[in-house]
Amino acid sequence: MKPLPITGVYRYKNKIFTENPVYCKGLTVYDEKLLKYHNKEYRSWNPYKSKLSASIHNGLKRLDLSEKSTILYLGAATGTTVSHLSDIVNNGVIYAIEKSPFVLKKLLQLCNQRKNIIPIMSDANHPERYSVSVPIVDFIYQDISQRNQDEIFINNIRKYLKINGQGIIMVKARSIDVSLNPKQVYNQVIDKLNLNKIKIIDVIDLSHYEKDHASIVVSN
Ligand SMILES: C[S@@+](CC[C@H](N)C(=O)[O-])C[C@H]1O[C@@H](n2cnc3c(N)ncnc32)[C@H](O)[C@@H]1O
Repeated sequence: MKPLPITGVYRYKNKIFTENPVYCKGLTVYDEKLLKYHNKEYRSWNPYKSKLSASIHNGLKRLDLSEKSTILYLGAATGTTVSHLSDIVNNGVIYAIEKSPFVLKKLLQLCNQRKNIIPIMSDANHPERYSVSVPIVDFIYQDISQRNQDEIFINNIRKYLKINGQGIIMVKARSIDVSLNPKQVYNQVIDKLNLNKIKIIDVIDLSHYEKDHASIVVSN
């Protein structure tokens, strides 16, 4: 089990893993494989089910995360990726925003199992609505397939990201403009981020795992 440069992420053979906390021993979240190694338990992180895993498989080298980081996660869904971030920020907190009550029901089961995830049913288009529950954070993660996904990201960065904090947006080109080539859409998003004085740190094409998607890592 070889640690990667991203805190809390490990490689074994051609797969990547995060460490399951002791209090979740034996528990899986989405039928991922568990692996025992030197008395610790690791959960395999499927790149076809998580765009962050796909980003790491496709070359993402650095993320400013530590085990104490606080994360605002926009578009948490049932918590597949949230669960791996929960392994990584073992002593931190994830504020998980999800709009759909149906999906949130399953996320709540995960939150009962893990103590560092705070579920919030809200619309990320309105960051002011969750200001009672969410403080300034170290990191913002967004995976929302809406036409205005870049605006949602920018508005949440403005309201919640600490100075010199980091964020990552999973861009779905087809949700923004089906008539353009995906690379043109990624460039449009990059231009908009730059215009809003948000620095681009890395751009990773998620081809092979997610068609017409890219992840963009930023800092403010
Ligand atoms: C692609 S899924 C996220 C998958 C998840 N990030 C993962 O990797 O496990 C997108 C989620 O965003 C949610 N969503 C869409 N628009 C939203 C909004 N405006 N605010 C909050 N959640 C939203 C959807 O209900 C859906 O569950």
